[in-house]
Amino acid sequence: MSITVKRASQLKAKPDSHQLGFGTIFTDHMFNMDYAPDKGWHNPRIEPYAPIPMEPSTMVLHYGQAVFEGLKAYRHASGDIRLFRPQENFRRMNRSSHLLCIPEYDEAMALDCLKELLRIEKDWVPDAPGTSLYIRPTIIAMDPFLGVRASHTYRFFIILSPVGAYYASGFNPVKIWVTRNHVRAVRGGVGEAKTPGNYAASLYAGEVAHKHGYTQVLWLDGVEQKYVEEVGAMNIFFVIDGEVITPALNGSILPGITRDSVLALCRSWGWKASERKISIDEVMEAHHSGKLQEIFGSGTAAVISPVGELKYGDEIISVTDGKVGPIAMKLYQSLTDIQYGKAPDTLGWIEPV
Ligand code: PLP
Ligand code: COI
Repeated sequence: MSITVKRASQLKAKPDSHQLGFGTIFTDHMFNMDYAPDKGWHNPRIEPYAPIPMEPSTMVLHYGQAVFEGLKAYRHASGDIRLFRPQENFRRMNRSSHLLCIPEYDEAMALDCLKELLRIEKDWVPDAPGTSLYIRPTIIAMDPFLGVRASHTYRFFIILSPVGAYYASGFNPVKIWVTRNHVRAVRGGVGEAKTPGNYAASLYAGEVAHKHGYTQVLWLDGVEQKYVEEVGAMNIFFVIDGEVITPALNGSILPGITRDSVLALCRSWGWKASERKISIDEVMEAHHSGKLQEIFGSGTAAVISPVGELKYGDEIISVTDGKVGPIAMKLYQSLTDIQYGKAPDTLGWIEPV
C-alpha cells in the first residue's frame, strides 16, 4: 500500500523547546487511514493536521469504541531521530483493538507510515534536555449509528506533539493517593487495553486526589481492593529490602513498555526484579519495618517518576524523605541515556527513522 502525501501550504511557528509542557502543541501534518469491511484498512495518507469531520451520531462519541498509544521520538546528539521500541506500541494497540472489537492492522506497515510522517515533521523533534516528540496513534469507531454493536468503519490517525515533562513538577517526587472508594478496572474487563474509557473512569478519583494536593491516584484491584495495580498514567514499582517489585500483569493493568524496560534493565544488572502480587498492606508494613526503600512510577510520558509521599486511609508515608531515590535516579538516567543515544543500545530497543 503506498502512502499519499499532501503538504500543508503554511507551516506553523515551532515552539521554544525550553518552554514545552505536555500535549498542547501539534505539528503541521498527521497520518490518516480508513477501514471499511469491503476494503479493509485503506487510503493511508499524510495530510495537514486538521479536524476530523464527523456526524454527532458517530459511534465513538457514544460508546467509546477507541484505542490509542503513546510513544516518543528522540533527537540524538548527532541530530538523528530515533524511536524507542515502537514495535511494542503497535503490537499493544492491536491487542487493545482485539479487546475493543476493532479490526487489526498491519503493524510493520503502521510503523513505516509513522516513519514517513516523522521524516516530514523531523524539524518538530525538540532538542532541549528531557524533551521529545510525543506520538499518539489512535483508532476510532466511525459509523453514524446509535445501536450498541461494534462499528463497521474506523479511522486510524497519528498526531505528533513536541513535549517536555509530563508532570509540572518535572523529575521530582510526586504525591500519590491510594483510593479505597473507587476502582479503575476489573479482571475480565478492558483494564489492560489502552482505551479512552479507562481514563474516563479514572477522572473522578483523580479530582478527589487533586483537591487534597495529590498528583495521581494509585489504584487497587477491583475485586478485593487489596492488591496494588497501577497509577493513572504509569505502572508502579516498589523497592523493598533490595527487591524491585511491580504488580504482575493480571488483565486489568496496562502492560507498560517502560515497565518491561525497567524490569529488563534491573535484571541486566543482576538485581532481583519481581512481577508478583503486592498488597497495599505489604507496602505499609515494609514502611513500618524500615524496609521500604523507594517507590516510583514508569511510563512513556512520565519516564521514571519517583513517589515521595503515599496516602492510604488516614496514614501518610514519606518515602526517601520526599527526595529522588538512588534506584529511581539510576533507572531514569540509564533509560534516558539509551533513549537519547548517550549509552549503547545493548538491548536492541532503538529504531532509526
Ligand atoms: N499505565 C497506564 C494507565 C498508562 O496510561 C501508561 C502510559 O502509557 C502506562 C501505564 C505506562 O505504559 P508505557 O510504559 O507503555 O508508556
Ligand atoms: C503515555 O505515557 O504515553 C500515556 O499515554 C499516559 C497518558 C498521557 C495517558
